[in-house]
Amino acid sequence: MSELLPVVILISGGGSNLQAIINASQTGELPVDIRAVISNIDGAHGLVRAQEAGIPTEVIKHTDFASREGFDLALQNSIDDHEPALIILAGFMRLLSDNFVNHYLGRMINIHPSLLPKLKGLNTHQRALEEHRAGTLKEHGASVHFVTPDLDGGPVILQASVPIKRDDTIESLGARVLIREHQIYPVVIRWFAEGRLGFKDNQAIFDGQILEHGLSYDELTS
Ligand code: GRF
Repeated sequence: MSELLPVVILISGGGSNLQAIINASQTGELPVDIRAVISNIDGAHGLVRAQEAGIPTEVIKHTDFASREGFDLALQNSIDDHEPALIILAGFMRLLSDNFVNHYLGRMINIHPSLLPKLKGLNTHQRALEEHRAGTLKEHGASVHFVTPDLDGGPVILQASVPIKRDDTIESLGARVLIREHQIYPVVIRWFAEGRLGFKDNQAIFDGQILEHGLSYDELTS
């Protein structure tokens, strides 16, 4: 078997993206060694998913720290103990300090539930519905991007879109987006593991080419 990419995955919640990554690694599609899953929330369901897959878990509660910097440093020390080549944010709902982000620049990725640069920040499905009703947004979707100090503003690697339907609710739209998230995240991680994806001068590089806007999963698979 070829060498596995050591990764650490950070979560705060249900962990359905984590599950998609676990599944892809178990089928051999994804050459990763998930060294640890770390959550800032005790009782996050993603921890159970990791334990069921035999992956070591850790809980580092942000509420146990007086400052963001203190939490970030503890998190960084835990992550670095596992010597990962890639840090994967999978529904990790904490703002991260610049020092932390810069420590992992070019080797930390995130998945965001919108077609970035549209709808950065929280509550993206609700805002997508509002904008759709106002006629300012045609479609919605998900993006995988490198994490930089610019919140949700790091270079986009891969996106997948979903239509917005007239009778959509936050839940129905969110569920449709989540399906696409589970498709695109393992693909990006595989590219990184295969050495096809890199980061230089605040830009994503894929197969030696700068990605100006990120790739479209729909175009790649059509
Ligand atoms: C996903 O929508 C992800 O894009 C966002 O948080 C959600 C996490 O879902 N950052 P899950 O925990 O992977 O199910």
